[in-house]
This record gives sequence, structure tokens and C-alpha cells, in this order.
Amino acid sequence: MYKRAFVVGLLAFWGWRNGRTSWNLFVNPSLPASYSIFGESACQRVYDESSDRFQFCEDAVVWDAKDERRLVLSCDPGRKSWNTVMGPLRDPAPRGDLWVYSYNSKDKKNALKRLELEDYPAGRDFHPLGIEIFTPASLNEPSTLFAANHARANTTIEIFELTTPGRARYLRTLTHTAFVSPNAISAVSPTKFYVSNDHYITRRVSNQLALTESVLGLPGGWVDRVDLAQDGDGFSVTRVASGIPFANGVAISPNGKELAVASTTSGEVRFYDIVDHDAKEEMKLSSSVRVPFAADNIAYDDNGTLFVAGHPHFPSLAKVAANQTRTAPSWVLSIRPHSITSPSLPSSIDDVVEPYPLTRRTPASATHAVRTVYQSDGSHFSSSSTPAMDSKNGVFFITGLYEEGILQCATRK
Ligand SMILES: *[C@@H]1O[C@H](CO)[C@@H](O)[C@H](O)[C@H]1NC(C)=O
Ligand SMILES: *[C@@H]1O[C@H](CO)[C@@H](O)[C@H](O)[C@H]1NC(C)=O
Ligand SMILES: *[C@@H]1O[C@H](CO)[C@@H](O)[C@H](O)[C@H]1NC(C)=O
Repeated sequence: MYKRAFVVGLLAFWGWRNGRTSWNLFVNPSLPASYSIFGESACQRVYDESSDRFQFCEDAVVWDAKDERRLVLSCDPGRKSWNTVMGPLRDPAPRGDLWVYSYNSKDKKNALKRLELEDYPAGRDFHPLGIEIFTPASLNEPSTLFAANHARANTTIEIFELTTPGRARYLRTLTHTAFVSPNAISAVSPTKFYVSNDHYITRRVSNQLALTESVLGLPGGWVDRVDLAQDGDGFSVTRVASGIPFANGVAISPNGKELAVASTTSGEVRFYDIVDHDAKEEMKLSSSVRVPFAADNIAYDDNGTLFVAGHPHFPSLAKVAANQTRTAPSWVLSIRPHSITSPSLPSSIDDVVEPYPLTRRTPASATHAVRTVYQSDGSHFSSSSTPAMDSKNGVFFITGLYEEGILQCATRK
């Protein structure tokens, strides 16, 4: 009773403080069962036929493997028992997995494989959330995989070496007092990456306070840069951007000049110019783009269009997390500066009418062109959390935080 009054009070205050757009996250939009910019039935679910472990995938990244592009995913079937971002914190023991999906392979039957975690310490928790792969220019060298691991005591960053045909060899674990709530990772070299921290106060400390931080949209999140020493085990952590409400997805643009950060509770994506200032790296906020949902993960395609997935109705997602219902709506957008084109998207959408236009929730951006890529009320695909675009092969993916399998869309007819 008191708990409910407390939450309602917080919501009221938050709505008052933030205005109408933020209230949107608490109103369920009348989304269609399914809509995609790529056309009707362009998007199909991918399941693993041989097990029920390929579900609740939070993140997915396109991996430029030696022979062909593949998708690497972080999935955690135990998410409803252990979720340090949304709760609950019940049982951290059952491990999550990394998967590799060879979607370009002719051998469709064996396209989906759980990655073997070679040398990973026995008894260590594994709850991968944000993952990232750095692929070296020389394809004979292994790629480096980074994974934010929501272990029971704290969140660590696990580093693996990735070799074809798909083994993840454990290299090391990074732990640091600055790693309060690592969520997403974006790497620019095998020894340098950026990591978002979503909350200043986590659920490990207090459920109620963490919820307060979320609901009030308090600017408790930030982004750190992590530099690993060239030799030895040392590493440094440097704060590069702060004051971001629920900092979630992070991505560095293909030309390395821009950092994008999704702010979940304020429903926006912030863009920072990466500038050198007296040999020190600085992030200068250049623009922010409102999105009609609680922004989750983000990813650039090869040409610099950013894709954002998120949750248009937060209470539905919270209910799914608490195992009270099964589905929550999905919405994915593309965002590009007016100055570039998006070769991976259809240029005209005259023939398809977006059933629930995003302008019903957010004003048009002055700086960026924003388009809906996918929408669902949750019945076709639920709880969209990550987009991934392979424009070279014309394939687009969406993962669902509490969904079975993933969604794969053919971007060309
Ligand atoms: C979620 O609910 C289903 C039945 O609705 C139940 O079988 C399952 O064990 C529950 N999961 C958790 C983690 O409580
Ligand atoms: C995180 O937890 C691990 C395992 O309990 C511990 O070894 C490590 O020191 C902790 N890190 C920090 C920064 O407290
Ligand atoms: C998109 O990116 C690819 C790969 O980097 C490049 O070959 C292509 O020319 C780019 N297209 C446009 C329109 O920028």
C-alpha cells in the first residue's frame, strides 16, 4: 500500500518535472501487431530448434569474422531470476550465454551456436549484458570481445579472444570501484573502450532508491573510457561524460568522431563530438534527439546511421520482468544527420504507411532525420532492446530483452 503510494508520488513528481513527453513512457501506444520499413513479412523470428536457451538476448553485435559476417549475442535465460538493472535479484547461479549466429552460412541447420567459454573460471557467475567486439584490420589476428558481466557481488568486464569458428577464449576480468553499474560497451581498439554506467545507485544497494533514480529521471548515469596498459595487467578509468539519466546504449560512430549515448528515462539519444583538447580527449555535447520510448541499446551501421531500440511502455516491461505478463511493446528507429544518406534503408516509404507515426509522441528533430524501422505491440516481437544492421548483406536484427529467439529482417526486396 505505502509502496504503491510512494511510486505514484514519484511518478507524479517526475511527470510534473519533465513534461508531457516523458509521461509517454507510461501510456501504452496503440501500436500495430507488426510494422517494418522493409515491408510486410520482411522480418522473421529466428529460433534455436535444439534448445530453449536462445532467449532473453539483451545485446547483439555484427562481427566481421575472417570469412563472413556473423552476429554475436548475449542471452540470459535466467534474467527473470537475476536482473541487476530492473530486478529481481533472486538467483545469480545459472549462467547466461554468448551465441554466434552465422546468418550468411548456407548450412542453415548449424547456423546458431552457443559459444564455448574456454578457460572461463569455474564457479564464476556469467550474466552478460552489453557486449562489444573489436576486429583488427589484419583478419589473421583474433578479435577481442568485451562483456559487461552482472555477477552477484558487482559488475565486472570480461575479456575474451574470439576466433573462427566460434570459441571465446577467456583472457581476463576487469574489476574497479568505478564500475558501479556497467551496461553497454563500445570499443575502439583491443585496449580502449567506452562503458556506460546506468545508475549511481544500484539495486544491489537499494531497490527503492534505484527505482527512485529511474523514475525521477535523475541524471545519475555516465560514460567512462577504459584504457588497458599495453603490457601488464594495469588499466585506467576516465570519466568522459556524466549527468546522463539512465545512461544505457553507447556507440562510437564509424569515423570515430562521435559518441552516441542513449538515455533511457529521458527518452533521448545524446550525441557528443570527440575532440582533442590539449592532448586530452573531451566530449562536447553537440545535439540530442528525442525518441518516443525508453531508449535501450544503439548501434551505427557502416555508413553512420544510428539505430535505436527501446521500450514504448515501461510498465509493460516492468511487468514482464516481474514475470506477471509475457509481452511488452517494441519500437526501433533510425537516426541520421540531415547531411548523410542511409543506403541501408529504403529511400521512400510512400508505399507503406507507418500505423503509429512517431510525431504523435515526439516533435521532429531540427538536426536529424528520424524514422521508424520496426514497431510491434509485443505480439509479433516483444521488448526490443538492441538493433544491429549489416548493410553489406542487407540484414537487420532486433533482440528482445524478454523474448524467445531474435528478429531477422531482410532489408532488400
Ligand atoms: C514465470 O512464470 C511461469 C508461469 O507463468 C513459471 O513457470 C516460471 O517458473 C516463472 N519464472 C520465474 C523466474 O519465476
Ligand atoms: C567485485 O567482486 C569480486 C568477487 O567478489 C571481488 O573479487 C572484487 O574485488 C570486487 N570488486 C570491487 C571493485 O569491489
Ligand atoms: C556505405 O559504407 C560502405 C562500407 O563502408 C561503403 O562502401 C559505401 O560506399 C557507403 N555508402 C554511402 C552511400 O556512403
